[in-house]
Amino acid sequence: MSATATHTATKRTGDIGSVFAQFSGGTLPPHFARLKRELVPPGREEAVIASWHRLLARLHDVTAEIEAKGSDLIPEVQFAELDDIAPEVEDEVRARGMVVVRGVTDTDLGAQLRSYVRSNPVTGFPKENPQVFEVYWSPAQVGARAHSHVLKTQRWANRLFHAGDGAEVDLDTPVSYCDRARIRQPGDTSFALGPHADGGSIELWEDKGYRALYRSIFAGEWEKYDAYDAVLRDGANSNLHDAVAHCGVTRTWQGWLSLSHTGAGEGTLQVYPALREATAYILLRPFFRALLPPHVPGYLAPENWVLDLESASFPGAALGKTIELSPETHPHLRLDKCMVPMRRVRPGDYVLWHCEGVHAVESVHEGAEDSSVLYIGACPLTKRNACHLRKQRDCFERGESGPDFPAGVGEADFDGRATAADIKGAEGRRAMGLEPFDAAWGRTQGVQALRRAANEILFSRSTGTPLPG
Ligand SMILES: [Fe+2]
Repeated sequence: MSATATHTATKRTGDIGSVFAQFSGGTLPPHFARLKRELVPPGREEAVIASWHRLLARLHDVTAEIEAKGSDLIPEVQFAELDDIAPEVEDEVRARGMVVVRGVTDTDLGAQLRSYVRSNPVTGFPKENPQVFEVYWSPAQVGARAHSHVLKTQRWANRLFHAGDGAEVDLDTPVSYCDRARIRQPGDTSFALGPHADGGSIELWEDKGYRALYRSIFAGEWEKYDAYDAVLRDGANSNLHDAVAHCGVTRTWQGWLSLSHTGAGEGTLQVYPALREATAYILLRPFFRALLPPHVPGYLAPENWVLDLESASFPGAALGKTIELSPETHPHLRLDKCMVPMRRVRPGDYVLWHCEGVHAVESVHEGAEDSSVLYIGACPLTKRNACHLRKQRDCFERGESGPDFPAGVGEADFDGRATAADIKGAEGRRAMGLEPFDAAWGRTQGVQALRRAANEILFSRSTGTPLPG
């Protein structure tokens, strides 16, 4: 039995709620306490304490800045100017960990999606009145993923990361990650996701790849943490504990393409616009505990927090779930003040946020129109992503959800489902694993070697490369 067939046979049902502990609960076994001593061995304690104190001081300033400026801190660029973005603007995108790219598409993908959902027996979350649909192969989604402007935006965003000359990470070649769609109705309160960070939970401390990525944070030098090292990120494993609906690819940015006019209070995304600071705090938080209880004066003061290398407390972490944050678990982030709503978007605007960025979804949709998006993250070509792409392509051809997603009813018999024949452009077909990558050209020798390897993975009957999963 092939790896793909095995995977399909063992797929579980579920929906977007399956990955959140807030919907299903989750605890951490006590033996995980050992991770803390592995990461902060004897002799490193003082450096970590000093780093924590510098981080708390920085978060104090970050909070003041976010309170003063709110959503205006979120960088925005015009798609039409994407070839000529100033370096300081790109640096700001990196620092905030997010961007709105205006005017990426102009076709009415929203009407296409709504028609597909109306015409078929779709399921989604929540079950009674779905707002996020278990739908992957509608013409709107397949068309948007292959749209030249979407792919160009992904290439630009991928290039905000870096990879060395010999690295087998191709930031010039976007590959598709086929995710769901949301049509959130006015008045909805069910699709409210609290602050969380995708891409691993206890894995952030446990997995050796993440440990390499976050080594400066664990060494007491959080200011040196580089969130844009694509090679280290490709080596991290975000799923050591059999999570449902966990992202199994190396994703640079999460993202959605807006299908509606949506602003603050209308069921939109909320973000924490200071990437390095938030990540450093999430990573260091388990190593400290408070002496005074919450809600008493001095609770947040640095002197109230002492080193904790003994307990199995990893606030917000759970096995097989995404990491979740709250004012109780992560008090210095001041989430009550610092989760700002996404800028007002129009149909065709593409919102991207860093793969580890803290985000949430507004608890209530108080607008008058539906708040609708196609979830389209950005991924570079890597061997891991090529392996995923092969399985995802096979799912596409069968009308099944992609490898990371619950089995559900599938779309094989849905009216109007898009197929490979609907994707015309070479770049869009490559992004779906339908055509070979151009191995004769590449920015570096590592990239050329990777494209050859990816073609082998995608198009050889026997690849010699075990397909994960
Ligand atoms: Fe998320």
